[in-house]
Amino acid sequence: MIKPHGSDSLNALFIASDTDRNQALIDALNLPTLRINSAAAANLVMLGAGYFNPLKGFMNLSDAMGVCESLYTSDGLFWPVPVINLVNQKPSFEPGSRIALLDPNVNGHPVLAIMDVTAIERVSDEQLRVMSGEIFGTNDSSHPGVATFNTLGNYLISGEVQVLSLSYFQADFPDTFRTAAQIRSEIEQRGWQKVVAFQTRNPMHRAHEELCHMAMERLGADGLVVHMLLGKLKQGDIPASVRDDCIRVMVDRYFPENSVMVTGYGFDMLYAGPREAILHAIFRQNMGATHLIVGRDHAGVGDYYGAFEAQEIFSQRVPEGALDIEIFSADHTAFSKKLGRVVMMNEVDGHTADDFVLLSGTKVREMLSNGIAPPEEFSRPEVAKVLMDYYQIEGT
Ligand code: ADX
Repeated sequence: MIKPHGSDSLNALFIASDTDRNQALIDALNLPTLRINSAAAANLVMLGAGYFNPLKGFMNLSDAMGVCESLYTSDGLFWPVPVINLVNQKPSFEPGSRIALLDPNVNGHPVLAIMDVTAIERVSDEQLRVMSGEIFGTNDSSHPGVATFNTLGNYLISGEVQVLSLSYFQADFPDTFRTAAQIRSEIEQRGWQKVVAFQTRNPMHRAHEELCHMAMERLGADGLVVHMLLGKLKQGDIPASVRDDCIRVMVDRYFPENSVMVTGYGFDMLYAGPREAILHAIFRQNMGATHLIVGRDHAGVGDYYGAFEAQEIFSQRVPEGALDIEIFSADHTAFSKKLGRVVMMNEVDGHTADDFVLLSGTKVREMLSNGIAPPEEFSRPEVAKVLMDYYQIEGT
């Protein structure tokens, strides 16, 4: 089976033993507390679930800047996006302290993790600007990722963590949220050798579905892991529970039995396009996938990235051997009215733009809000129904 990133075996930071975890929770009662922001909480869930293997905690300033500028930590680990805990005010505890990190996303703010603080560093506005420029390719505060990043604060608290909870994901998505270790072990049990991962933050429309079919066929894959984002999205994006329902009705009907695992992970969307695509590849390698589909405008938003920049970064910035997982690069897929099926647009001749059914996410949302179902060429009727039901309830 494919090895995790940067180590021979997966080291998830969630304390798996109930006894040890309960003891850690009791110990945490006597520690100084820090309520962290949602971005840092999402990082903890990913560390806890093994997706961010082999990291052991939050990066310090030198690692964060190194990752931004050269995609390497000072220990020589290839990593594309800093995994950091930024706060707005200088805390009262000192480096060397053990502290309890509180969950901002769960009522009552329970303890999410215990952290051994190694450094508290002030990050200048200029350093934050450099970071955001490298991560998002822009400093434009209209970019949703930049806008969030700009609120996180100027104090970087770094150190190793022990994760005591996976936040709200297990309770809210019991059938779908899975840790990297759980997915790895299921892949092993199923005996899959070649495994395609599909990243998504959308309900799966026909273009997504066909992209997965094409990847599986062309790679001769044993299975597909649909791996949806369950964390926070920008306003207007479709909630995870609705996307989950859409994906499940589609997979049940249009994929062979036992060829797909429908799963999700607890992370907030960064909208960092190319850099996020590399992060996506790392955590899919950690869960045991051998290939990740990267299509058009992967993890993008608005017009901030070129349509295929998230593919190009793999040849431009990922050194040979830095990752074991491979990328399945796909062109724009769309329904061809001429051929009566979904195709990769660069693989068909004699087509003009009018020969394809192309609808933007905004257009589809607009149609749904007005009670109009997307056309059958765009969405499977089962998927359209789930979306229509949701938008009807939303509108009332
Ligand atoms: S993403 O932010 O998670 O990337 P989305 O769920 O829309 O957004 O896309 C999931 C994956 O499908 C990404 O790899 C994306 O590039 C790809 N994709 C989505 N729509 C298309 C399309 N029409 N043609 C090619 N690839 C696509």
